[in-house]
Amino acid sequence: MTSPSTALWGGRFKTGAAERLRDYTQSVSFDWKLFRHDIAGSIAHAKMLERIGVLNAQERTDIVKGLGEILAQIERGEFVWKTEREDVHMNIEAELTARYPAGAKLHTGRSRNDQVATAMRLWLKDQIAADQQAITGLQAALTTWATRDFAAVIPGYTHLQRAQPVLLAHHLLAYVEMLERDFERLSDCARRADVLPLGSGAIAGSTLPLDRKFVAKLLGFSRISENSMDAVSDRDFIVEYQAACALLAVHLSRLAEDLILWSSAEFHFIRIGDAYTTGSSLMPQKKNPDIAELARGKSGRVIGNLVAALTLLKGLPMTYNRDLQEDKERLFDTAETVQPTLLILAEMLGHIEVDQDSCRRASSDPLLLATDLADWLVRKGIPFRQAHHLVGEAVALAEQRRVPITKLTLREWKKISPTFDASALEVFSLERGLDARPTHGSPNPKLVKLQLVRWKKTLTARKI
Ligand code: ARG
Repeated sequence: MTSPSTALWGGRFKTGAAERLRDYTQSVSFDWKLFRHDIAGSIAHAKMLERIGVLNAQERTDIVKGLGEILAQIERGEFVWKTEREDVHMNIEAELTARYPAGAKLHTGRSRNDQVATAMRLWLKDQIAADQQAITGLQAALTTWATRDFAAVIPGYTHLQRAQPVLLAHHLLAYVEMLERDFERLSDCARRADVLPLGSGAIAGSTLPLDRKFVAKLLGFSRISENSMDAVSDRDFIVEYQAACALLAVHLSRLAEDLILWSSAEFHFIRIGDAYTTGSSLMPQKKNPDIAELARGKSGRVIGNLVAALTLLKGLPMTYNRDLQEDKERLFDTAETVQPTLLILAEMLGHIEVDQDSCRRASSDPLLLATDLADWLVRKGIPFRQAHHLVGEAVALAEQRRVPITKLTLREWKKISPTFDASALEVFSLERGLDARPTHGSPNPKLVKLQLVRWKKTLTARKI
């Protein structure tokens, strides 16, 4: 007996497929998500087939019309996917042929190997455009927050120990820079996905004079693939996307971690709006930063998806192997994890209140400016290593006397080094400390303001 799927390739088989095989090998339960791009590829292919005389105008019209009807039906949620038809490609083709006999000519010069690679590349190009829009949205949210709380100063940390004071805006703009690199990596990935594999057939092209450049133009691909074997076996574009997303997810996880720390009672730099936090079922006082925690946690599966993609490919002989069907669920999972994370983080940032007092308290420890005092000595001609040592002595003395370093007497300072004078203590003003930094890329408020202007311009120009 011939089943609907074996009808498409069953000529050489005496029996239909075993039910267990069908269940095991089907992919339509997840690859149906490629329907838009599969249909776009088929329409372009049909138009090309007409151009080279394989289809007449009526047949092409029927195929394009039929695919349009199927597309509309899928979008309305009325299309019935059949696992016995294996995958999205065969479901659509079988349904088309059932409605319009011309459908039986659509697969001319085409294999599912080049068909699926084409659909995946089309899908990815769209996905990346949407991801980049979401990245821009988060960058804009960070920039808006940085502008809103421009005056806030917090300690910058190394080793999670207070290091030097910075503008909160400067800290937030660090994430804008990180996200920009993610944006660029995705652009790069999109550029390499932008190659049409269709026309490569199963492995060795076709004996028919397929006009591949015509198809590329219709589908918006910049280039056509140069090697039919590479074209059907290449999944580098998926690995690149997984890698770009893994790093993006790691960046989001680090941002999330900062937000979690800052919202703790120990830091108390920020309060996240009620609508973006959750409570505890047991402890009535709790207000938990679950969004940030999940953003941090979900980076794990995105990293896992990258490893899965690499592992999938590492032992594959040329060219197409059915293993490649396993590229999809992990790919979709990454896309469906990263984009919502970007969107919800951006929204949440609009509902964060900064506790200016806590920030000021944390950043007003004069020891955060100890390095500036060493720089002051350098200006008086003391070699830096020596200056570092002298300030270290002052820190130790203040610690020993249990007073802030600013409370050491002039005599004590002079005892450490005669170079110290009363004006040295002026370095301990927070405002002066920040204003005194002329180096490009430092948290000098004037420079940070310029960075904000630059980012606002860049991001507004990018708004899609
Ligand atoms: N569902 C398959 C995949 O995703 C399509 C290609 C199948 N090709 C084949 N020769 N069986 O990889």
